[in-house]
Parts: sequence; structure tokens; C-alpha cells
Amino acid sequence: MKILAFETSCDETSAAVVDGLKVLSNVTHTQLEHADFGGVVPEIASRAQIRLIWPITRKALAVSGVGLDEIEGIAVTKGPGLIGSLLVGIVFAKTIAQLLRRPLIGVNHLEGHIFSAFISHPELKPPLLVLLVSGGHTELVWMADYFDYRLLGVTLDDAAGEAFDKVAKLLGLPYPGGPHIDRIAREGDPEFVNFPRARPKDFDFSFSGLKTAVLYYLRKQSKEFIEEHIADIAASFQEAVVDSLLLKTEKAVEQTGAEKLAVVGGVSLNSRLREKFRSAFTGKVELFFPEPQYCGDNAAMIGAAGHVRLEHGFRDGLDLTAYPNLQL
Ligand code: KG4
Ligand code: ZN
Repeated sequence: MKILAFETSCDETSAAVVDGLKVLSNVTHTQLEHADFGGVVPEIASRAQIRLIWPITRKALAVSGVGLDEIEGIAVTKGPGLIGSLLVGIVFAKTIAQLLRRPLIGVNHLEGHIFSAFISHPELKPPLLVLLVSGGHTELVWMADYFDYRLLGVTLDDAAGEAFDKVAKLLGLPYPGGPHIDRIAREGDPEFVNFPRARPKDFDFSFSGLKTAVLYYLRKQSKEFIEEHIADIAASFQEAVVDSLLLKTEKAVEQTGAEKLAVVGGVSLNSRLREKFRSAFTGKVELFFPEPQYCGDNAAMIGAAGHVRLEHGFRDGLDLTAYPNLQL
């Protein structure tokens, strides 16, 4: 089934054409306007979505070589995310669905991230354990079957990606900081500072204490010392995040008896995370990461989830609206 999909939940404008789990095109524009503000400005984001949605869609159709008349369904992110940004994609998707008289399906952004693993590994099927790590979410999810999710644990404060971005800001690195910390940490010593690994109960996570620990550590050092050791500090912080994620994921693998584990979301790109998870789980569970182009926010993952939902008979009407705080 050929699906035209949209993802506009935050500061990415993305359109894709998928045929089942096969991606025919996936065009994503990341707004750079927010860099000067050190974070996403909702008003700027929604205005940019309006400006970009049509050019990005036209490009996605052109790259796919699929005509609008061949599109069999429309999928769009319905939440969670910024309400203004979400509404742009939703109104646009509803309009196209109505014009083409094709079925419309609203997709949970978090479910989209999970389906990014299915795009890169079409043989992958539930049941599986999922660690979802992004800028807004850090969750351990047991996916018993398609559309059957059990939330095992969440972050009690900051998301892992948010911690990366905040600490990057403290270190004077550009926004979003995750990829910059990853890059400079390669030259650093992960044991240079022993930052705390929070251990909240069960499968929950917590990163705000770590962020504060980095802040207090930096306050005690001279500017010269920080400049000289920035790679070591970044590597030590990254190590603490990865260790915390690994600890709870190992516990969840043990308790669920999972045979498959997928790590998805923007932070799943982190090279140290991939390295430590591979060495911890090889021979124990089958470990799946999405290909890099499907880790961050993109419409292909929304199309893949939308495809499976439409196949299972799910449909939305023209009353589809945005759900900024939607959960799985
Ligand atoms: O999934 P995503 O693109 O958007 C959300 O739904 O939030 O995730 C974005 C987050 C940002 O916080 C970004 O800094 C982080 O993913 N990120 C990384 C890396 N690449 C992106 N964090 C650590 N290491 C990376 N290589
Ligand atoms: Zn996301």
C-alpha cells in the first residue's frame, strides 16, 4: 500500500512516500532558525511548518516517482508535540485525504519511532522490548503485539536527549547538542569525572540530577581547565547517561524475558550507546537499531506505522485533531 506521510510535531518538516515498510522517499527539513535561541521556539516552528509543508511534500513525491493518483492512504503525526506544528501537518493531511478521497490515519509519534526499527529490519516482529530515547521522551516499552504497548518505565524528569542538549549548552556547544557531545567525546576519557548514575525505582529513569552535577562541577573549574578537558567532561557525562539507560534496560530484559530489543529515537544514534549496548547484549538478546536516517524525526516512520494501522482497519475522520500530550 502506497502511503503519503507527514511528520510536523516539532521543528522538523518531513514528508515521505512508503510502500508498506519500504521507503520510496523521505524528505526532511530541520529548521535552523532555533539555534540562536538554544531551543525550539514554538511560534517560529509552526510558521516554518506552514512555509515548508508543501515544498517538502512536492519533493517527496518527485523523489519517490509516485503520482498523487497512486497514493492509497495518508498518514500524519497526531501527537505528542507542539500543538501549532502538529496542526499544520494534520490540516494539510486532512485536505489531501479529502481531495484524493483516500483513507486518513493519525499516528502517535512515539509509535512512529518504534516503527523506524521495523523499516530498517523488516523481519522484526513483536513481541519485543523497546527503549525509546529522544529529545522529549525516555521510555522502556513492552510491545506485546502490534498496537499493544505496556509502559514499563519513564523518565521522572528530563529526557535523555534533553540532558544531552542542556549539558551541551553548559559546555558552550551548539543546539541540538547531542551529536556534538557524541563527536567530541570520542577524544575524551569517560572515567575522567565520576558523575552520578541515578537509580530511581523499577524501570524509571532520572537525568536532572546528572545535569546539575555537571553544572556544579563546571562551576568549580577554571575556564582554561574546562577548555582543555571539554572532551573528557563530555565523555564522562555521556558515559553516565549510557550507563543509566543500560542498567534499566538490562533489568527489563531480565524481567520480561525479552528475546528482542529495539533502541529507537534521536539518542539511539549515539555511538557510545550503540557500542555499550552491543557489547552488553550480544549473545543475550537480538538487538535492533534503526538506520541513522530513521532515528531522528522523519515521516517515513509515520508512514510505516500508518501502513500497518490502515492494514489492520484503523481509520480517522476529518475530526482528527492534535494531541500535544499523547502517550503510547
Ligand atoms: O527523536 P528526535 O529526533 O526528536 C524527538 O522526538 O525528540 O531526538 C532528538 C534528540 C535531541 O535531544 C538530540 O540532541 C539527540 O536526539 N541526539 C543525540 C545524538 N543525535 C541526536 N544524542 C546523543 N548522541 C547523538 N549522536
Ligand atoms: Zn521524535
